[in-house]
Amino acid sequence: MEKPEERKERMSEKDYFSFDQLVGRSESLRALIEKIKVIAQYDVSVLIEGESGTGKELVARAIHYNSARKDREFVVINCSAFSDTLLESELFGYVKGSFTGAISEKQGLFEVADQGTFFLDEVGDMSPALQVKILRVLQEGTFFKVGGTKPIKVNVRIVAATNRNLKLFVQEGRFREDLFYRINVVNLMIPPLRERKEDVPVLTENILKKIALKNQEAPKEISEESLEILRRYDWPGNVRELENELEKAVIFSGDKKMINPASLGQELLRHVRDLKQEVLADGTWSLKEIKRRAVAEIEKDVIRKGLEKTNWNRTLCAKLLGISRIDLIRKISRYQLKKT
Ligand SMILES: Nc1ncnc2c1ncn2[C@@H]1O[C@H](COP(=O)(O)OP(=O)(O)OP(=O)(O)O)[C@@H](O)[C@H]1O
Ligand SMILES: [Mg+2]
Repeated sequence: MEKPEERKERMSEKDYFSFDQLVGRSESLRALIEKIKVIAQYDVSVLIEGESGTGKELVARAIHYNSARKDREFVVINCSAFSDTLLESELFGYVKGSFTGAISEKQGLFEVADQGTFFLDEVGDMSPALQVKILRVLQEGTFFKVGGTKPIKVNVRIVAATNRNLKLFVQEGRFREDLFYRINVVNLMIPPLRERKEDVPVLTENILKKIALKNQEAPKEISEESLEILRRYDWPGNVRELENELEKAVIFSGDKKMINPASLGQELLRHVRDLKQEVLADGTWSLKEIKRRAVAEIEKDVIRKGLEKTNWNRTLCAKLLGISRIDLIRKISRYQLKKT
């Protein structure tokens, strides 16, 4: 079991930061928040890049609600969720009789977003034809309704997001270069959660509070062992996956106030299989043991990389890593490293 004083120390740490609904403590998130605060004030287009579940939409909202447009609409459209024709009529609206079924005039989302912010989600999935039309809105501030002949003027700020490499799409000719530069005036890159694991504890605390609020109960606490498992996992689905795992853990912990490893999902436990066996053996676990294992894992990785880099020249590798040759040989044998 963790010692009570350790827990107290962790829970009283308030050296994380938050902005709007974004929380974190990593350097990269801090830098991102600082950038958001500045760019929100300027009426420029922003491209947000990041893997799925990293918080792109949250960032887009933070930009809008901290900008001069905050009292106007924040309109979201997911460009990959519609067929081309549907997306077009959603974005631009249509005039009565422009196609079968167009029984009355429809306002497009660009009009709804006038004076506000337009969030183009999954912008990389937009067809070339629509890219041209969006470019026109950006360049001239006008568009035509489907079947319409009168240009409509709007003033919208574009915030776009993608989980693809849009630059690569441009190189491959799948995304218009001129539109790319129009959108990518400011670029915000949200790093994946595995590259900022320092954020896992504060995100966890924050998410547990959100879940408690929703369920109208006191927030659950999380044991140090469970937190260590969360920290060690790589989170391919990023913060959204962390949210899902915690939702499940809250359910599986039942009446218990504390989330223990036994309440965590199989997938998480599988990834830390060594941990699981020990945890399941008696339900407790020393922090010292966790640290020892974590260090060993990193060490093994570093040595493997060093050996690859020096083509398994042990003398060179030892020099590179700043340890003695004999020490290196011992470690190679302990970690059962073999040339492949
Ligand atoms: N830094 C953060 N602080 C608090 N909550 C976060 C943070 N980042 C993401 N989240 C939460 O994670 C979830 C996913 O975020 P969001 O929907 O913004 O991600 P996304 O990048 O748009 O994902 P997708 O590519 O799947 O659409 C949301 O519930 C959001 O509130
Ligand atoms: Mg999203």
